[in-house]
Order: sequence, then structure tokens, then C-alpha cells
Amino acid sequence: MRVTVDIDTCIGCGLCPETCPEVFEMDDEDKARVKVDKVPPDVEDACREAVEECPVEAILIEPD
Ligand code: F3S
Repeated sequence: MRVTVDIDTCIGCGLCPETCPEVFEMDDEDKARVKVDKVPPDVEDACREAVEECPVEAILIEPD
């Protein structure tokens, strides 16, 4: 599983790194950044939760 963040849509709420810090971090401009190429299997559930919780639906799940 891979995810991407649409930085034009992200409002920098900070929820995704809070929910799944293994995959997301905030960059210098307060936008979420995906820090892994592939989502590790053991954090896929947390990552899906982050996708669902994003208030502006800026995180997209991509097929492998
Ligand atoms: Fe941005 Fe959504 Fe994360 S607004 S910081 S991508 S939860």
C-alpha cells in the first residue's frame, strides 16, 4: 500500500502524523509529507485511519 498527500489540499491540521507517525510527518511549510515509499504492513490500519480522519481528504491511497 502506498499513500500520497495532495499538498494543495492539505490544510496542515497535523492529524495524520499524530495518527500514524510511521508514515506521515509535517514539512517546513506545515504540510503533511509521506516519509516512506511503501506503508509498512503493521501500520496499514493506522494509516487508513489517518486517511479517513483527514478533514479535507488530502490523503490518497494508491495501489501498489
Ligand atoms: Fe494535512 Fe490532512 Fe494530514 S489536512 S496534515 S493531510 S490530516
